[in-house]
Amino acid sequence: MKSKRQIDTQARSNGETYSPVPHLRRSVFSLHGVPALPGWANLCRAYGASLASRTEAASRKTAASGAKAHVLPGLTAGLKPRPSHAGGALPCAANLIGLAALALLFAGCRMDMHEQPKYLPYQPTTFFDDGRSERPVVPGTVARGQLRLDELLYTGKENGVVSNKFPFPITREDLERGRQRYNIYCTPCHDYTGSGQGIVVQRGFPPPPSYHIDRLRQAPAGHFFDAMTNGYGSMYSYASRIEPEDRWRIAAYIRVLQLSEHATEQDVPPSERPKLDQQTAGPAQ
Ligand code: HEC
Repeated sequence: MKSKRQIDTQARSNGETYSPVPHLRRSVFSLHGVPALPGWANLCRAYGASLASRTEAASRKTAASGAKAHVLPGLTAGLKPRPSHAGGALPCAANLIGLAALALLFAGCRMDMHEQPKYLPYQPTTFFDDGRSERPVVPGTVARGQLRLDELLYTGKENGVVSNKFPFPITREDLERGRQRYNIYCTPCHDYTGSGQGIVVQRGFPPPPSYHIDRLRQAPAGHFFDAMTNGYGSMYSYASRIEPEDRWRIAAYIRVLQLSEHATEQDVPPSERPKLDQQTAGPAQ
């Protein structure tokens, strides 16, 4: 069987019109990466050849006009002050200038978002009778995404009374998440054990009560949720930083902390107790 290159050579020597396209088409459809190469090579060669012939033609033309200029310098200089191809370049330049003018025109129409007509918070207006640009909520409507029908989930209360229930079952994952959020947001003051001696307190902030006092051990879970949601005394609200679900997870983790300080050996599963003995028998610190 003949190779593609042999076929090409034969075709050319037979005087057939040489076209690289069938090679290209064949190489695309043949799905053989390597055998397709000669097709590409031919394409490149053909392109190179056409480029070369064009350059050659161009240089021949230049040479011819150069010779003319040499023969009649006065005439060429007097009658044709510009090179002959300048007539083509002029409309091109005009086009460019036109385009630039258009671009400038549209740039003038552009309005940045920070310049849009709008009211900044609390900015007064003469449009409404009460002079406020911020409109009160229309009675009986709720902003999108703010329909909070679940009283327990969003307030920690049931029928207006602080509840000791959690709005969803607490899993191991919820406790882990609660620990993570607690360590991020609460430890600066309440510290890692919940005793209320965090680093901020050590530097002079009023100390919060320990979570391990009787009053807080008896406090319903909703009380912790409420303190985070609305703030408590000198402690500010965390509602804007911690989602309601995460506030419940933190409340659940506070229950864990409380248990950890008051747990007895009976609270430890029998299978785990030997580990406790090992730890107590460890080296004294
Ligand atoms: C900047 C320090 C600070 C941080 C951070 C902080 N607290 Fe407090 N917290 C306090 C102080 C101080 C009080 C006591 C406020 C008072 O009685 O005036 C308090 C009180 C509380 C109470 C009420 C206790 C009671 O007496 O009934 C709860 C519950 C509570 N914090 C939970 C949290 C939780 C949960 C977080 C983390 C989401 C948190 N706090 C973050 C300083 C802080």
